Amino acid sequence: MCGIIGYCGEKSAAPIVLEGLKRLEYRGYDSAGIASLCDGRLLMKKDVGKIDEVNQKHNLGSLLGNTAIGHTRWATHGGVTQDNAHPHCDCKREIFVVHNGIIENHQPLRHRLERKYSFVSETDSEVIPHLIREFMDMGSSLEQAVCQAVKELRGSYAILAISASEPQKIVAARKDSPLVVGIGSGESFVASDVLSFLKHTNRVIFVEDGEIVSLNNDKVTIHDGEGRQIPREPQKVDWKWSGATKQGYEFFMRKEIMEQPWAMRCALMQDRGLIMEAAMDILRTRQVVLTGCGTSRHAALIGRYLFSKVGGKFSDVIMGSEFHHFSDSIHKDTLVIAVSQSGETADILEGVKKAKANGATILSIVNVVGSSLARLSDKVVYLNCGPEIGVAATKSFVSELVIFYLLAFAMINQLREGMRAIKSLSLLTRKNLNHNGAISPELAQGLKGKNDFYYIARGINFATAMEAALKAKEIAYVHAEGMPAGELKHGTLALIEQKTPVIAICPADYTFEETMSNVAEAKARGAFIIGVSDRNEESFDEWLKIPTVEEVFYPLVSIVPLQLLAYDLAVAKGLDPDKPRNLAKSVTVK
Ligand code: F6R
Repeated sequence: MCGIIGYCGEKSAAPIVLEGLKRLEYRGYDSAGIASLCDGRLLMKKDVGKIDEVNQKHNLGSLLGNTAIGHTRWATHGGVTQDNAHPHCDCKREIFVVHNGIIENHQPLRHRLERKYSFVSETDSEVIPHLIREFMDMGSSLEQAVCQAVKELRGSYAILAISASEPQKIVAARKDSPLVVGIGSGESFVASDVLSFLKHTNRVIFVEDGEIVSLNNDKVTIHDGEGRQIPREPQKVDWKWSGATKQGYEFFMRKEIMEQPWAMRCALMQDRGLIMEAAMDILRTRQVVLTGCGTSRHAALIGRYLFSKVGGKFSDVIMGSEFHHFSDSIHKDTLVIAVSQSGETADILEGVKKAKANGATILSIVNVVGSSLARLSDKVVYLNCGPEIGVAATKSFVSELVIFYLLAFAMINQLREGMRAIKSLSLLTRKNLNHNGAISPELAQGLKGKNDFYYIARGINFATAMEAALKAKEIAYVHAEGMPAGELKHGTLALIEQKTPVIAICPADYTFEETMSNVAEAKARGAFIIGVSDRNEESFDEWLKIPTVEEVFYPLVSIVPLQLLAYDLAVAKGLDPDKPRNLAKSVTVK
């Protein structure tokens, strides 16, 4: 889940790589480093800390040379230390490598290589420069050596390598970790994602598993593992660089919450034929299974209710990390709907690959164009919500919901009506944001000393409770549980004490009365009730008012005040909501 970027061109490389690393920081921020090639010499600086901290200490951008590679780390193997930070090098310091992924067979490789070379880090990644060294010592070029080295690796990797003996060249390889090349004029880029170099070019080539790429200024060649050249034309991505900037907001998360009305309208920009076809697939296929992780799984849970409530079709949701364990029951009569903002979540990719191998059809709901999941799928519906940088998913969640609404309405041949309804909901969402945005900071101040939060709801609203709890956990570092309100009395009620916050998502819909009985049970044990509803009730100690909408649309409006509350809790506690500890946005390891 680290971020890597390389630049090769006529400009000074390190400042470009440094700027790219800042864009990749959402992928990991334990430590960072850059290596550059200057007049046949390799230079390197790296340390522990967020990129700005490492840069302040070492002035990373001052490294000379027109070729450089950089890394921002999310530790997996080996603690957060300077030695474990990337780039890693061979013993002669003539080959530098950055790596994203996990080398599963690093131990046997290390035992073998340690007979010849000394290791300085505890990482799995350090075997790579030593392996490349071994092959180059036998007469291979850098490109040949990378190709030979990756044949020995098991696990996942996106690798960039530079060598003092081959100036103006970066060699890259990938398997199960994202890698994309950018073609500029007289310069080229290679990185974990497009955002890191989008300011310079939007002409890109997505690297496939098993391919080896050589970059030399604007000359980019791609070979397969047997050395055969693969012709590939660049394609254009239409994300804007401005979408990846804070535009005056203090944090990306705030900006992304506030732009949800816009995101909802962008998610409506779909090829209607594609949505109708996908809806027909859902109706016709014997078995429909939805999968996703974290926030995307919560969107899928709401999707399941919509398919049933609106379209009359039963489906099931299996969480991404468990999905591959069900592969025995996935076959050619299965439609898998895989939901992922990044399209790079390793848990999803693993399950989807197995399902595909068993003959299932794959429909994906994805934000990142050209991502691994999109390329694996038979049909792709894009969210179109632009880059989401904050680690906590917000606008991608509402965009995923919009796609589920479109599919559900298309199932009953009411796609146009569904689109119209969501368009007007986007206006209500603006009002919802303004109203709750004004009251949530004060509520958060009052709650910032609390450590346990319980979110309850029923029916179509229950996944909103799970999603709201996840937001609070990940950015405000509180223990938060989201659950169906009816489950409270089956155990969790034992944890309710005087003033324990219980957040009840109870819009005035078919779930209202039953949820209110559970509110009464919690209140009787002293809970502090925060009601999320369009109807105020005496039992509420605080009321987060939401607009009245048609029953099926409540998830879209009730998540808004709870995203704001999680954000304001984090800010009230002095935390950085964009970069929560131990987490990364794109989870490319299993
Ligand atoms: C929560 C969050 C994560 C992601 C999860 C799946 O705010 O961001 O739980 O939702 O890692 O990521 P994607 O959707 O990229 O597959």
